[in-house]
Amino acid sequence: MKNYLTIILIISEFSLFAQTENKLIIHLDEGKVKINKHIYGHFSEHLGRCIYGGIWVGKDSKIPNVDGYRKDVLEALKGISIPNLRWPGGCFADEYHWKDGIGNYEDRPKMVNTHWGGVTEDNSFGTHEFLNYCKLIGTEPYICGNMGSGTVEEMADWVEYINFDGESPLSNLRKENGEENAWNLKYWGVGNENWGCGGNMTPEYYADLYNRYATYCRNYGGNKLFKIAGGANTDDYNWTEVLMKKIPLNLMDGISLHYYAVTKTWADKGSATEFNETDYITTLRKAGFMDELLRKHSTIMDKYDPGKKVAIVVDEWGAWHNVEPETNPGFLYQQNSLRDAFVAGITLNIFNNHAERVKIANLAQTVNVLQALILTNEESLLLTPTYHVFNMYKVHQNSMLLPHFLKTEQYELNDEKIDAINVSCSKSDDGTINISLVNAHPGKAIQLLTQLEGDDIPDKVTAQVLTSNSIQSHNTFENPEEVAVKPFKDFELKKGKLEINLPAKSVVVLQLSSK
Ligand code: AHR
Repeated sequence: MKNYLTIILIISEFSLFAQTENKLIIHLDEGKVKINKHIYGHFSEHLGRCIYGGIWVGKDSKIPNVDGYRKDVLEALKGISIPNLRWPGGCFADEYHWKDGIGNYEDRPKMVNTHWGGVTEDNSFGTHEFLNYCKLIGTEPYICGNMGSGTVEEMADWVEYINFDGESPLSNLRKENGEENAWNLKYWGVGNENWGCGGNMTPEYYADLYNRYATYCRNYGGNKLFKIAGGANTDDYNWTEVLMKKIPLNLMDGISLHYYAVTKTWADKGSATEFNETDYITTLRKAGFMDELLRKHSTIMDKYDPGKKVAIVVDEWGAWHNVEPETNPGFLYQQNSLRDAFVAGITLNIFNNHAERVKIANLAQTVNVLQALILTNEESLLLTPTYHVFNMYKVHQNSMLLPHFLKTEQYELNDEKIDAINVSCSKSDDGTINISLVNAHPGKAIQLLTQLEGDDIPDKVTAQVLTSNSIQSHNTFENPEEVAVKPFKDFELKKGKLEINLPAKSVVVLQLSSK
């Protein structure tokens, strides 16, 4: 009789679950691939106030600094465990001549930053300043070499200067410039956007050139470079096809992909803060397009690399809005709202869910440029909603991706629709289960019934939420806490069933463990 009743109970619970509009099933013991922490990387270009004013103010600045590095930014970056930082560009990389950025400051030649505002670059932030910064913030450097306007010799020399520990004119020069030991840099990009600002090349021409440049980027000592080919612009699948066909797998560890979510057109992208709900859904639909891009580029790569040796490196992504009024259009300074937090939350969930192929990604850009983590104004600093998402999601770094099944209602407006809920789940080495959720619906709280499947069902939950009054909410220097992370308690966990009441327009991260 008792068994009979239990069966009835299970069946009725199951049918209740089946009828539920929004449900999530997580398989706690079926993870097969780890989420590479480098998916949570960032990008710092010599562009506007990213390096100068953002990361580097110089030792004589009145802004508090550590050896010239802005102290508040440094601390904030440490706080989100940045796994890698890409530098010096971007389009700037293919015009950058590294030898101009070493040695005494007074002797460093100046150059024109033709891409970004035509300003004079004084090269005071160069190889040593970048690599030492990475050490300070505890991150791995990722350098993009100049293939567009630089020579093979120049690129080969740069690698030797950085990584060779023995006796050579270049390693001696590094020592003279104050760095005794090789940096053992791993992540190396061979050109940037070579279909555009990096030389306007065809994929065939680029692939041939890549093979030549990459050959001379040598491994020194025990250090093995992770070489990244300059990949496609958005949905240029032919670019990926040609590179995969022409570049031997032993010469390439990754292939990059650049995609920006632009709400309107490239000429008028739309304001970062003054947008309506139609713009909002468009932005999020465009952010979600990353999933299709990864599936399609990956399918092409599978033909040539079924073992998934070559990684997709999404080394530029994010929302690209109009610059803020009265700022230099070449500096790409934009505000950052709750909408941008959702762009980050959705995209990072997509990356996690593609962990098999996506191994590195870099949000554009770290400070004061595009979808920045941090904005500065003279001595003031604010953390953007995007920063908070990276802080909440850092629990996924190097955790095991957990397979899930999600049934979600749609959020629809006019003729556009997107999934209202977006999710990824992982298990940390200590067994903690991490669930990151975005409820993109601007006006509707959603109840999500979650079923945990596995041997060891957790019974303890802690959670955080990021939301605000409106989708346009953003942090300002006057009100830097308008959008802030708060503890979240609106859930109930009972015997493997977790009921979560997701507030409208929110990002929620839950961590589940056993007592
Ligand atoms: O991130 C800004 C610019 O966008 C980069 O320099 C370039 O690679 C891309 O087009």
